Amino acid sequence: MPDTVFDSPPPHFSVDEVAHLAGRYFGISGPARSLRSERDQNVQVGDYVVKVSNSAETRAVLDLQHAALAHLALADPGLAIPRIAEPGVVEHDGHFLRALTYLPGAPYATVDHSPALRHQLGRFMGRMSRGLQGFGHPAAHKPDFLWNLDNAAEVAPWVADISDADDRAVVERAFHRHRRRVVPSLPLLRGAIVHHDANDYNVLVDDVLVDASATGPTISGLIDFGDMLFARQVNELAVTLAYALLDATDIIAAGRDVISGYAAECALTDHELRVVYDLAATRLAMSIAISSHRQREFPDNEYLTISQAPALRLLRRLMGMRPEFLHFAAREAAGLQPVPQHDRIVEWLTSPDCQPASVLPIDLRRAGRVVISLADGAPATQFADPVESWEWMQAQMDAAGAQVVVGRYDEDRSCYQGEQFHTDAPEPRSVHTGIDLFIAENTTVHAMLPGIVESVVDNDLAYDYGPTVVLRHTTCSAGAEGTPFWVLYGHLARATLAHIHVGDTVAAGDVVGFIGDHTVNGGWAPHVHVQIMTDLMADPDTGFDGNFEGAGEPSRMNIWRSVVPDANLLIRLAPETFEDHSADQPSVLQARREADLGPSLSTSYRNHLSIVRGQGAWLFDHEGRGYLDCVNNVAHVGHAHPHVVAAIARQAAVLNTNTRYLHRTILDYAERLAATFPSPLSVVYFTNSGSEANELALRIARTVTARHDIVALDWGYHGNTNDLVEVSAYKFKRAGGAGKPPHTHLAELPDPYRGSHGDDGATYAQSVATAIAAAVARNGSGPAAFIAESISGCGGQVVFPAGYLAAAYQHARAAGALCIADEVQVGFGRVGTAMWAFEEHGVVPDIVTLGKPIGNGHPLGAVVTTPALAAQFANGMEWFNTFGGNPVSCAAGMAVLDVIDHEDLLARAVDTGGYLLARFQELAMRHAAIGDVRGRGMYLGLDLVTDRSTKQPATHLAADVANRLREHGVLVSTDGPYDNVIKIKPPIVFNRDDADILCCELDDALAELSPAATE
Ligand SMILES: Cc1ncc(COP(=O)(O)O)c(C=O)c1O
Repeated sequence: MPDTVFDSPPPHFSVDEVAHLAGRYFGISGPARSLRSERDQNVQVGDYVVKVSNSAETRAVLDLQHAALAHLALADPGLAIPRIAEPGVVEHDGHFLRALTYLPGAPYATVDHSPALRHQLGRFMGRMSRGLQGFGHPAAHKPDFLWNLDNAAEVAPWVADISDADDRAVVERAFHRHRRRVVPSLPLLRGAIVHHDANDYNVLVDDVLVDASATGPTISGLIDFGDMLFARQVNELAVTLAYALLDATDIIAAGRDVISGYAAECALTDHELRVVYDLAATRLAMSIAISSHRQREFPDNEYLTISQAPALRLLRRLMGMRPEFLHFAAREAAGLQPVPQHDRIVEWLTSPDCQPASVLPIDLRRAGRVVISLADGAPATQFADPVESWEWMQAQMDAAGAQVVVGRYDEDRSCYQGEQFHTDAPEPRSVHTGIDLFIAENTTVHAMLPGIVESVVDNDLAYDYGPTVVLRHTTCSAGAEGTPFWVLYGHLARATLAHIHVGDTVAAGDVVGFIGDHTVNGGWAPHVHVQIMTDLMADPDTGFDGNFEGAGEPSRMNIWRSVVPDANLLIRLAPETFEDHSADQPSVLQARREADLGPSLSTSYRNHLSIVRGQGAWLFDHEGRGYLDCVNNVAHVGHAHPHVVAAIARQAAVLNTNTRYLHRTILDYAERLAATFPSPLSVVYFTNSGSEANELALRIARTVTARHDIVALDWGYHGNTNDLVEVSAYKFKRAGGAGKPPHTHLAELPDPYRGSHGDDGATYAQSVATAIAAAVARNGSGPAAFIAESISGCGGQVVFPAGYLAAAYQHARAAGALCIADEVQVGFGRVGTAMWAFEEHGVVPDIVTLGKPIGNGHPLGAVVTTPALAAQFANGMEWFNTFGGNPVSCAAGMAVLDVIDHEDLLARAVDTGGYLLARFQELAMRHAAIGDVRGRGMYLGLDLVTDRSTKQPATHLAADVANRLREHGVLVSTDGPYDNVIKIKPPIVFNRDDADILCCELDDALAELSPAATE
């Protein structure tokens, strides 16, 4: 080291002499007193400090200080820094003299440090940095300056002068951390002229009234610009931190105060934030090393050692923390996402590229779940004994029909009692950073994503993880470089340790371990703790040791949440799982429903469902349990399809009115819909429901033919109005029905399985001719119309035999009746091969009625007919329907047609429907209870029988199957004259995976409920 001001003693004029010189050179007078200085001589004279520089000080350095102060006075006039008295630097007796204004206040070191004061300190130094941007001076380049943080390497050897071995080791670690983390990034750190010595004696605090509303200590100034130099700009903040954190109760909180203040005035770069705490530690280490070195030179100066005690204490605490955690803390303080790669990882985790497998060998989407709290005083915390705790959980699961107990992410818990939960923070680590899934010991635990085993260790402290596996994954999709992240599976069984090894490659779904029992898992009820880590925060020297916090300090959760984001990003329990939906509980709603809506409205399943959300082919109940919807053909293109939702929202925000005005949307939609029909069907009437559509169809037929009687198919259902109930055998023949009215004539349901003529369509059609004859006999002219669904739904998913509809239509037309095809259930491509199910029969109806899927749940219906019939219908009586075909309904209908096209859903119906049919047929080979499998596309039925030879309907079994499936998260319904047909008519976005779930559950249900009939 060259000869510096540190090596030459400070000047020693008397106070009177300096006072005299002040008057002589600067015209300053007033009471004089000596002020503290390490290397100059400072004397306060009146409102000024007269500084007599160390004889080794160069003129250039003083010029630097003066230029900097002048620059700052211009750049930030409000900044409390000294002003220079004219004429600036003078020379006297080999010393340089100058006078600066005296700044009032006590040293920062001598006052209490509130968060607000620390924040002010940060702001003050941020203003300094901002003010000095753009300032340059040749004398600022002091590469050999002892205290220059960039020169840590020069001072590091003095560590040897630290007498205490422990102290020496801590300081050595700090220098090592500097070499490891700071040195490589030095070229990336911005350079600037910095004050470089905002120590707690150079920062002044004044207890003045700040403004009318706030009193209290405030930063009143910064003095001693003697260390100014060109260095890394972030050193300014690092030096400030090194002193501001001395003896702070909570380093992270205190650091946040300072850094947030600094960053509010002067933005920090990613690189600076990464090393700012390392640099603060380096400053402390340098200070201790320099001090110890001087101590050796001046062994009598005890002050040097004593003054280092707080620095050593702080350094020890900083070195006890993971450097990456400090990095993330600095970022959090600066208002950034603590872990830089967090957002990238979460974006991938929520992207379609990320398709995690289930962590447990159960389908967690559908599994019943009990969410427990382990917060202080919660019922689950009453058991100290893990065995009792598990028994209690099992009782909870039995009561709720659940398969798993879920412990929450980000929950403050009282159960973490071990030493390992106590950190440098004032409070222990008590907030859970994973999700717990409690399930029987030895249950397999599965990798959710493909990855590589990072660690397999046994963290065998009490309350710890026990055997733990960490997998490394990346955000890459097929070969591309990605960002790594990790998933930890804790509390496993010892068998795990032999099952899986570091470096193993695992595929999604592979078994990575087994649930441990309380003797090995840290003393807990059996469960797996799953957590995602965006950074391992590993020690760069030793690497990751397999241990990672599973709980964070409450006050540091902003940082922890970024390091350990919610494991549910991968586990994917529906959000309702964690929400309070007590007001949606079935028992609560059922009681209200009976009172409010009347008892005629039935509710599906023995255990009623409270459904709060739908998505695609899935419905979710108030507890977040998912149900595969195999029956809701209304949500044709999938529940809550975003395209349809957006179309409805867009139009609703602009206009919804009745249909008395010209509006292009209704015409666009009518034309697009009509274009899907064969000629001459081209005129559309819009309604609000299938019932309204059928009601209008009857009105058209009756108006046009001037007849009233209707021929309908047995077991048909056409709607809920009086007229429609009278043509719906499914209603008038069953409970509460008034029987067949005289003007309705029923034709036999052409059921190839149960009907009297097998699959002889022409013979069944004879029954239509017979019904027509009955109408003629009754009224002399015949029926107005023959109405039939294109596949009979309520009749039990009955597909008509070939030739039936053509022959039936022939009979009807020959009698002057119109043919109405009710496509309310089966239209819009459900059969897959065609848009309309009647097309499969080679017929063209006179009137077609539409409903259910047409608006994907939005109330809409339509009647499509020919221009000729439309003209005849216009007999003077107006057709008016307030809501039918309003702009919002038409936007919904148009969007449904868009999705059918864009997602090629007819092809989907063919593919999944064909797959399902084949799997059902395969089930029928094994389950004798399946008497018949039938249907087209995604409109299928399983006719359950007690005896295949007699075809005795298995009505109870069908109900039991539907209810059991519901308990297992699969929704089907029963129908048909005997309610023995399992009806399958899901949203047509249903895919093969969904089909597999349905078939597995059906298989199990039949095996369990009808074992004797299983062949
Ligand atoms: C074949 C058929 N037509 C008409 C309707 C009546 O439709 P909506 O209930 O929309 O009035 C239904 C309803 O289930 C139906 O299945």
